Amino acid sequence: MAEELTFGASTVVGRASRAGATAAIEAHLAVLKGKPLRAAISEALARHHKLGGNDRRFVAFAVRELSRHQRLLDLAAKARGRAPSSLHLPEDQAIFRYALWRRVVTGASAERTMIEVALPGPVRPRSLPDAVLTEELSKEVPLGLPDDPLERAATLHSFPTWLATAIAEVAPPGELADVLAALNREPFLTLKVRPNGTRDELLPLLTAGGFPVKACDESPDALQVTDEGRAIFESRWMKEGRLLVMDLGSQLLAGLCRVTPGQTVVDFCAGAGGKSIFLADAVGPSGRVYAHDTSAKRLAEARSRCAELKLRHVSFPKEPRLDLADVVLVDAPCSGSGTLAREPDQKWKLTKQKIAELQTTQLGILEQVVGPLKRGGVIVYGTCSVLKDEDEAVVERFLAKHPECTLDGPPLRVWPHRIAGGGFFGARLVKR
Ligand SMILES: C[S@@+](CC[C@H](N)C(=O)[O-])C[C@H]1O[C@@H](n2cnc3c(N)ncnc32)[C@H](O)[C@@H]1O
Repeated sequence: MAEELTFGASTVVGRASRAGATAAIEAHLAVLKGKPLRAAISEALARHHKLGGNDRRFVAFAVRELSRHQRLLDLAAKARGRAPSSLHLPEDQAIFRYALWRRVVTGASAERTMIEVALPGPVRPRSLPDAVLTEELSKEVPLGLPDDPLERAATLHSFPTWLATAIAEVAPPGELADVLAALNREPFLTLKVRPNGTRDELLPLLTAGGFPVKACDESPDALQVTDEGRAIFESRWMKEGRLLVMDLGSQLLAGLCRVTPGQTVVDFCAGAGGKSIFLADAVGPSGRVYAHDTSAKRLAEARSRCAELKLRHVSFPKEPRLDLADVVLVDAPCSGSGTLAREPDQKWKLTKQKIAELQTTQLGILEQVVGPLKRGGVIVYGTCSVLKDEDEAVVERFLAKHPECTLDGPPLRVWPHRIAGGGFFGARLVKR
């Protein structure tokens, strides 16, 4: 078994206390019962409010990991004759999955794992006695990974076969397993240096202040935080608004707008405003950003972030002024298949049907935007998905219907295994 599992043994995991393990298993149980992963983590952390910082980080990490490695862990359970379908109590499934994750993925010993899960905790009711768990965890059982390369990669990195197949359609040849592995790692913390300071100026100041960061070669203002701590959030530079938290792929997508000072931009799917801030910085105070979104709640967040940063040239009209725009960014609602590192439970919620529905929405938004756009205006269509049906296929179908538009240069494809960030897609479409 060891040979097949060395990929996981190198994973660095802190030591969970019993209380930390309990919170993680409770949260995973909530995910099994249908609760979104983020909500499950925050509710478990609120219940176990006495946990210290390391334990809290461990809980969030463990819960993400249990979704990330679900298929592999279920195979490990099946190999022991205890497939989840044979464990009738969801509590047993959650405990067994957690215990197998500790053994199989993190390389913890059976003894260490039992310290975390032995009775009387973590969750009840429970039908698996300690003796049975200890015996199962002490066994060396071959996993029996499939020989077919795609099935093997999908199993080893725990993706549904249909999703791995869809990613394989567009992944660089021979790199599918790397893409899947990258979608399974913990996300990087990346910052964007705002114009009231250049990256070259800020980098030595941050380093000297005890915040380890490094410049990302791919984007001019991007900094990767290289330690695991969250101390940077308490730094003066963050509090002064000189740094913006932004995935490297997001920075590359917003950069594809190539806006210049004085221009007018519509951020049509502005959400909580991350890219609106990026664009506002790029057009400067002589330019204008109109932010729009169908979600009033997200737009309210964008509005308050822009107000806090005193970005007076960002406005939120009911009808975005598409007719005035030099560039319209359509950061479309998508499956998030490129950012599964953040939302690993989505792997098990996405369906082909959902992707088809998203494509209809994405085309609908482009349709809404193109009519009022002036000649020479640019639409930047982007997603944080790596799936062709949400990316190239949307652009192809749109262009087939709109001969007045053309592609401006090859689309941007950001692969998560090649950068310290998620997978993104972007295309510049010019209206002639
Ligand atoms: C990928 S998120 C945008 C993220 C945002 N641009 C950022 O940088 O933080 C997609 C957004 O599209 C919005 N949305 C969904 N359907 C829409 C529609 N028909 N028109 C405009 N926005 C829409 C969603 O509410 C969501 O906020």
